[in-house]
Amino acid sequence: MEGKVELRSENISNKILETIKESVPGVVSEGRIDFEKLRQMLGENIETGQERFGLTWPGKSEAIRNVQSPSTGTLRPAVDKSRLFVDAENVLIRGDNLEVLKLLQKSYHGKVKMIYIDPPYNTGKEFIYPDNFREGLDDYLKFSGQISGDGMKLTTNVEGDGRFHSKWLSMMYPRLFLARNLLREDGVIFVSIDDNEVHNLRSIMNEIFGEENFIANIVWQKKYSPQNDATYFSDMHDHIVVYARHAKMNKSEDTGWNRNLLPRTDEQNQRYKNPDNDPRGPWKAADLSVKTYSKSYDYPITTPSGRIVNPPNGRCWATSRERMEALIADNRIWFGTDGNNVPALKKFLSEVQGGNVPVTWWKREDCGDNQEAKQELKNLLPGVDTIFDTPKPVRLIQRMLQIATSPDEEAIVLDFFAGSGTTAQAVLAQNQEDGGNRKFILVQLPEPTDSESYPTVSDIMEERVRKVVDDYNRVREDNGESLYGFRVFSLDSSSFKTWDNSQVSTATHALEDQLRLFVDNVKPERTKEDILYELILKTGLPLTARIDSTIIEGQEVFSIGGGVLYIFLEDPIQEKTLFGMIDQGTRNVICLDSAFHGNDNLKTNIRLRMQTAGIAFRTV
Ligand SMILES: C[S@@+](CC[C@H](N)C(=O)[O-])C[C@H]1O[C@@H](n2cnc3c(N)ncnc32)[C@H](O)[C@@H]1O
Repeated sequence: MEGKVELRSENISNKILETIKESVPGVVSEGRIDFEKLRQMLGENIETGQERFGLTWPGKSEAIRNVQSPSTGTLRPAVDKSRLFVDAENVLIRGDNLEVLKLLQKSYHGKVKMIYIDPPYNTGKEFIYPDNFREGLDDYLKFSGQISGDGMKLTTNVEGDGRFHSKWLSMMYPRLFLARNLLREDGVIFVSIDDNEVHNLRSIMNEIFGEENFIANIVWQKKYSPQNDATYFSDMHDHIVVYARHAKMNKSEDTGWNRNLLPRTDEQNQRYKNPDNDPRGPWKAADLSVKTYSKSYDYPITTPSGRIVNPPNGRCWATSRERMEALIADNRIWFGTDGNNVPALKKFLSEVQGGNVPVTWWKREDCGDNQEAKQELKNLLPGVDTIFDTPKPVRLIQRMLQIATSPDEEAIVLDFFAGSGTTAQAVLAQNQEDGGNRKFILVQLPEPTDSESYPTVSDIMEERVRKVVDDYNRVREDNGESLYGFRVFSLDSSSFKTWDNSQVSTATHALEDQLRLFVDNVKPERTKEDILYELILKTGLPLTARIDSTIIEGQEVFSIGGGVLYIFLEDPIQEKTLFGMIDQGTRNVICLDSAFHGNDNLKTNIRLRMQTAGIAFRTV
């Protein structure tokens, strides 16, 4: 509707249409694709046979429809559960991640540097969220007890259920699809999984990310002691599947994901010594002979003690006679303390590559294991390890952060199967270690637990992150450093009645009911903050945007993100306040439609005045 804020989340098929239109404008007319024309333009590049390569399962088309149905929900701020809400740069969200990913599409499209997820592995023991694109948000509200209903079946996905893999795939597909949209061009995703679904996961990730963007399948040693009662093998590893949003075809390509080197270990550095007090610092002796024989590199060298040394049989020196002389003159060749040894090259620590190329085998000594992860959780929240037993070690996620994000970029790290919130801890631990500025967004379903102190897994996540933030902030305060904060949000139905399907339906409501709702379309129990954050989200600003309140002509006006958007929620609307906003230098103004009380002349007048000043004026 012209001049109205779109309260539904981004329409994904429109987005795809826009992309096609941009590359081949000729095939789109009146907002629709002319398939025949597209087919002609694609010529040979069309699969015409009945048989296709790829993975399919019962329910796949419904899973794809699940991507397309927009969310009508919102994220409501919970200031009392947050830390330093006003300046916070991190976000925790309680809710079903499919709805949340839909709601984040506008604000975080192409903004996320790294995603880490650790979804249910489908071992037959976990609950797999049963999406239903027709019910969408309503199902979630029943599940989380926000509206009454029969609730959602909380049974686990059992292997004998039939559709065992299909259910899991249908759950994963839309989430991965939407997650990809959020990644930056140089972004990357890491997904933890075990042998149960790794093959299926890779198939759908190939489909969604493109197999050319597959980076690695890391094997992480998750256990130390074998399970001696295993029927066949004791399962000691997990996989971490890595895909880039855009993988480089070759090293020199400018765009795409760049991986960092991992920091050198102390053990590696300790191999460098300085027995001759070389001012260039510690060094390590390296063999000077090579196997690939060349006659001109085979010559005698005289040691300082006067001994003549030739390369070992069948080998030659690694460099020419002239270069060798230059190296000796530069004190880069070591003949031992007595000057009588076979010559060796001094490799200086200061001159070796600044780190290690990451490998695909991650040992528990370097990244921790399941046991360590449980201990870490227990140290922060005693007893919780028995309520929540699938945390990951902090070091494991830190390693991904080291490879995928740099301290100097303001990388956003997203985890939408957050569990106990290890990713948040890893982000802050890594920032503490290298002075980085990474930020996190975590999403976790309020999955019920058996505990009274932590009724849901989201409660565990929130409490863990509060503890970690408080611990770090104590140190940071003493050091005079800026403090960490986070904003907690929870998924709910829109604060505007017009979009609440359960309340408005043309079939069941009389026209006058509809009109009444239209006149005052804000739900009575919703606060100003609820409305502000819904508008922030639906206009595509980040959830951490700053909100400043100012008074114009005696009425309160909110400036969002340093003035990018002005929101005016007073009722009734005062003309002079709205005109006052024109001088604030913003490009966007939103106010409540109901506050015009049907005065269309005033609305038109204001719209025109704002238009002339180059301001997009919308109502809600
Ligand atoms: C294996 S755990 C993640 C553990 C986490 N990496 C940690 O270190 O604590 C997977 C989590 O995903 C959550 N989950 C499952 N379905 C979800 C959904 N639809 N939306 C959000 N979270 C979901 C589960 O509640 C569970 O806590």
